[in-house]
Amino acid sequence: MKKNNIEQMIHDIPNYPTTIRIKFQQLFGQEALIIRSPGRINLIGEHTDYNMGFVLPAAINKSIYLGIHVRKDRIISLYSLDYQDDYQTNLDSIKRSGKLWPDYLLGVVEQIHKNYSLDHGFNIVFGGDIPPGAGLSSSAALECATAYALNSIFNLHIENMALVRLAQAAENEFVGVKCGIMDQFASMFGKKDYLIRLDCRSLEYAYVPFHADKLKIVLFDTRVKHSLASSAYNERREQCEIGVKLIQDVHPEVLSLRDASEEMLLKFVKPVSEIVYNRCSFIVAEIQRLLNSCNDLENNNMQAFGKRMFETHAGLKDLYEVSCQELDLLVDLVKNHPDVIGARMMGGGFGGCTINLVKTEAVEALIKKVGDTYHAKTGTEMLAYVVEIEDGTGVLTKFSL
Ligand code: GLA
Repeated sequence: MKKNNIEQMIHDIPNYPTTIRIKFQQLFGQEALIIRSPGRINLIGEHTDYNMGFVLPAAINKSIYLGIHVRKDRIISLYSLDYQDDYQTNLDSIKRSGKLWPDYLLGVVEQIHKNYSLDHGFNIVFGGDIPPGAGLSSSAALECATAYALNSIFNLHIENMALVRLAQAAENEFVGVKCGIMDQFASMFGKKDYLIRLDCRSLEYAYVPFHADKLKIVLFDTRVKHSLASSAYNERREQCEIGVKLIQDVHPEVLSLRDASEEMLLKFVKPVSEIVYNRCSFIVAEIQRLLNSCNDLENNNMQAFGKRMFETHAGLKDLYEVSCQELDLLVDLVKNHPDVIGARMMGGGFGGCTINLVKTEAVEALIKKVGDTYHAKTGTEMLAYVVEIEDGTGVLTKFSL
């Protein structure tokens, strides 16, 4: 692939803010307030959020854009640019829509209405360039955009961390995925050129600089969308809880896998269930791996950091069993490549993307080589995204017409 083509692939996206403004005028005759809410990557620390461990995500330059304006009545009118589909309901009769995309918004509206009692309806038009089902948290971005938008137009003065909790509750209760807090947190709190180390128990966080001048973050999209992903995700979560209960019988002070050790797992979990032991053992190791990898970053030892990414992949594949053949293939293809510092599957699993740290000068050739082999072996055209680390959710004030 020629450089121009790659650059075009990265930058040639529709101008969502402008399109949303125009569509809003057409549909409602109103000037919309436009919110941008980004997708996320996660460098290391997978499935650790709901186990009260640490994560190391960042917001990226792929986002949901959402236009909103208040109405005089109690109607909620939603329009998706990407699906070219609309949905209407009323503040007093919010229920699942039966077609999924509205549910990410309605779940948040329900949470906010329950807690802050809205007295007017509103209009929304939204769209964005986060590929859905690729593990970049387009759903969390949409939830955060909705929460931020309602907070803004109704002057609710809700703090950003509370908005994150509302967005997560919407996903847990309305959409039905028992996700942790990472995706919504990263989308809301992202900061340009920084990773965020989040302690998912205390919710304390620190911005960690990411020196990306010599390295690029490249995502390889398998384009596999596993239909069992959310039920398997909930099952992993339950298995972790079973592990904690087995330890708690003897060590009541252990409240989550964050407090557990490998010795405890060997003693109290392994004799009861090998599968539960494997799941928990991965998590305990992954929490420690993240802390070690933060030391690597501080010492600017990217080789050591990258090695840990490969270790995370091995654990997700063999112990946590949330990978798939296509993800494994993409990691195997770069494993011994001198220009790839680290790689692993990213996010919940069963499809989506791998995340790769690649020497800048090698990016173009690598995308071509991996893409060709992936195509030859799977018959599927791989997609590649070279992502930049961007700011989190906010009101968009400057955009071109
Ligand atoms: C999904 C969930 C997150 C997190 C990751 C795995 O993205 O939404 O809360 O658990 O999987 O790290």
